[in-house]
Amino acid sequence: MASDAPLIEPLHADAGVIVGYQPGRPIKDSTERLVLAPGAHLRSGTVIYGGSHIGARFETGHNVVIREECVIGDDVCVWSNSVVDYGCRIGDGVKIHANCYLAQFTEISAGAFLAPGVTVANDLYPGDPASARLMSGPSIGPGARIGVNVTLLPYVRIGAEALVGAGAVVTRDVPDGCVAYGNPAMVHGRIEDLVEISRRVEAVPGDGHRLRMAHRRAAGSVRTERESP
Ligand SMILES: CC(C)(COP(=O)(O)OP(=O)(O)OC[C@H]1O[C@@H](n2cnc3c(N)ncnc32)[C@H](O)[C@@H]1OP(=O)(O)O)[C@@H](O)C(=O)NCCC(=O)NCCS
Repeated sequence: MASDAPLIEPLHADAGVIVGYQPGRPIKDSTERLVLAPGAHLRSGTVIYGGSHIGARFETGHNVVIREECVIGDDVCVWSNSVVDYGCRIGDGVKIHANCYLAQFTEISAGAFLAPGVTVANDLYPGDPASARLMSGPSIGPGARIGVNVTLLPYVRIGAEALVGAGAVVTRDVPDGCVAYGNPAMVHGRIEDLVEISRRVEAVPGDGHRLRMAHRRAAGSVRTERESP
């Protein structure tokens, strides 16, 4: 076997999966081969480039692209239509939901969760002559949770166990354990102060299977437990 041939342990791959795709750009160590540990489950349309190291039980949805020079831990999932660009580092147990884009050199620590539609940028001034040298994706701390359709700008650091609310545009660091949301995202509290979900919702009358926000105070707005007298 040639030294640059992919090392692919037993895996379940649908028809239409490509593993070890030749990168179009030169990679640092051209002898670097794709390493894919045992137990992978790759669904149709997945393309994994050469030169990445991927841990055990890696799972993809449909139409997922993993570029070269990524280092990915064990038990990582990347769901349908998501793209992990080159040079990313992703820790054990990370879950990346559907329609996410991770720019080059993004770091995600163990146990973090990215909801559908998270977009990560790495180039502060696109097209700037210094961009290629200085581009870096954000760093997402262990256990952090990033809500749907969040945009993370280059260089920001999301702290451990932090929660970024839906639709936020994160331009500055979010400290450990904080809840941040808005555009630009601001810190609005701490995880331990969030009201339990079960106290914020109630059954829809006549439809025991559906829930709605509790304590309705006016059309379109909700009183939370924290605001209750
Ligand atoms: C941010 C979040 C965690 C709620 O935090 P919270 O501190 O409990 O906030 P509240 O629900 O008490 O809302 C407080 C205020 O912030 C606003 N708000 C809540 N979430 C917001 C968000 N994501 N962006 C902007 N404003 C938001 C509320 O409208 C409310 O404003 P008001 O006082 O003017 O009515 C939640 O709204 C959220 O975005 N969760 C992520 C959901 C998600 O993406 N899940 C992914 C899996 S599908």
